[in-house]
Amino acid sequence: MITTLYLSNDTSARAAGADRLAHAWEREPDLQLIRTSSRGAFFLEPLVECDGPAGRLLWPRATPGDLPRIRAGIGGVQLSDVPFLAQQQRFVFSRFGQAEPLSLTQYRADGGWQAADRAAGWSPETIIQEMKASGLRGRGGAAFPVWNKWDIARRTASDQKYVVANADEGDAGTYCDRMIMEGEPFRLIEGMLICAKAIGADCGYIYCRWEYPAAAGAMRAAISEAERAGALAVEGRPFRLEVFRGAGSYVCGEETALLSSLEGGRGMVKVRPPYPAVAGLYGKPTVVSNVLTFATVTEIVSRGAAWHAALGTERSKGTVALQLGGRIRQPGLIEIPFGSTLREVLERFGGGMADGGRFKAVQVGGPLGSLFPESQLDIHLCFDAFNDAGAVLGHGGIVVFDDQTDMVELARHYMTFTAEESCGTCSPCRIGSVRSRELLERIERGQGTPADLELLADLGETMKATSLCAHGARGPYPVLTAIEHFGREFRNRLDQADA
Ligand SMILES: Cc1cc2nc3c(=O)[nH]c(=O)nc-3n(C[C@H](O)[C@H](O)[C@H](O)COP(=O)(O)O)c2cc1C
Ligand code: SF4
Repeated sequence: MITTLYLSNDTSARAAGADRLAHAWEREPDLQLIRTSSRGAFFLEPLVECDGPAGRLLWPRATPGDLPRIRAGIGGVQLSDVPFLAQQQRFVFSRFGQAEPLSLTQYRADGGWQAADRAAGWSPETIIQEMKASGLRGRGGAAFPVWNKWDIARRTASDQKYVVANADEGDAGTYCDRMIMEGEPFRLIEGMLICAKAIGADCGYIYCRWEYPAAAGAMRAAISEAERAGALAVEGRPFRLEVFRGAGSYVCGEETALLSSLEGGRGMVKVRPPYPAVAGLYGKPTVVSNVLTFATVTEIVSRGAAWHAALGTERSKGTVALQLGGRIRQPGLIEIPFGSTLREVLERFGGGMADGGRFKAVQVGGPLGSLFPESQLDIHLCFDAFNDAGAVLGHGGIVVFDDQTDMVELARHYMTFTAEESCGTCSPCRIGSVRSRELLERIERGQGTPADLELLADLGETMKATSLCAHGARGPYPVLTAIEHFGREFRNRLDQADA
């Protein structure tokens, strides 16, 4: 009898040894190995799955020698026995771990393409009304209402309009866009088609970060597959969709820099207005939305706006994709409704600190995000609670640091990043980040003075207030929150200088 096993082909699973298993078992008789998307429980990879009489069984951290046990059904655990997975409420990521990413047939059999088909029968106004009723806000970081952007692009008259998926995913510790592109590429394409119908576009681009070769390859293959099936069309006309590889700059994730890069220019941030929805790619109305945003659009059209509006908090509707990383036992992807506290998420899903380390701080929202000490973990994970706290949820990256972390070194590291990635358009960021980095380097060497610390805070406030984009405006936050919560470490370095 042929045994069918499932093994993720996601980059994270391959990094954990999935290909080694596939290679070891490729000549095994009576064995069919299906490569799937990943469940996102990275601490369990490589994860092998098999359907048993009582449902799907999982073999975490499998090795080549486990095959006889797996064939015999010995030692497998039920999904419900893995709290990390069982406690989530997955919608956008519901098929992850089961789906064959490039099978359009399977995608359709699981209800895929229903959303695009449904939206094809709707007017642009109805689609935008659906987005409004759903309360969907962009997942790329700025949390702007999706319907509003789409409506502006729809109302702006033009012979040409574009839909652009922002797949630059530059925030350290984030990976959900990559997982969608590698694991559910048709879901992204569907969301882009729905947007194209709403605004009247016949051309789109996926701006994929350079460091994601597998995601770019999967997207290209999925586009070809959809084309072959005649599914890549809007209003009966072909929709031209291309993957564009980014050039490795963080600021190219900012929408105006992204569009400059897409046009073949340097990734420099432009003054807004005009916003891309009015004058974007080649000066034409362009919707730039995050990959997860488009994937969520597909889910909303498929399940209905009311479903989305009923989840989450009053002003952060739906689910949030949190990406846990750093010094914890259970790094991975979590999809839950907005509104849990940071503490709940770390306790329920993080599995405790790695290797007996003790918690020191957690950074939420990528390299421009604030640091939270233990006393602030009761903050609710939603856009508005973070906004009220002067923080950003960003793209949902959560990185945990342990008590071995040197906060001065960490602050210097972040400001070095801000300085190196600054596009240079505006002086508060271009100059302020370099001067801040120099001050932090001096403090780190034990040569700083109390006046340096004051100057650092002053520069930070200037960058926050006067930078052209969020790169410079948010850049000081990791440093300022490190000083606010761990000021003693900074002052101790100054003491050394005095001594
Ligand atoms: C420095 C900087 C980097 C950014 N990087 C990304 C990114 O990697 N991915 C992303 O979707 N949005 C990124 N953004 C936000 C985009 O400018 C834009 O708001 C977003 O793509 C809009 O999509 P959304 O409405 O779906 O969130 C970045 C913004 C800044 C200022
Ligand atoms: S804040 Fe920094 S990244 Fe943004 S426009 Fe100014 S120089 Fe460029």
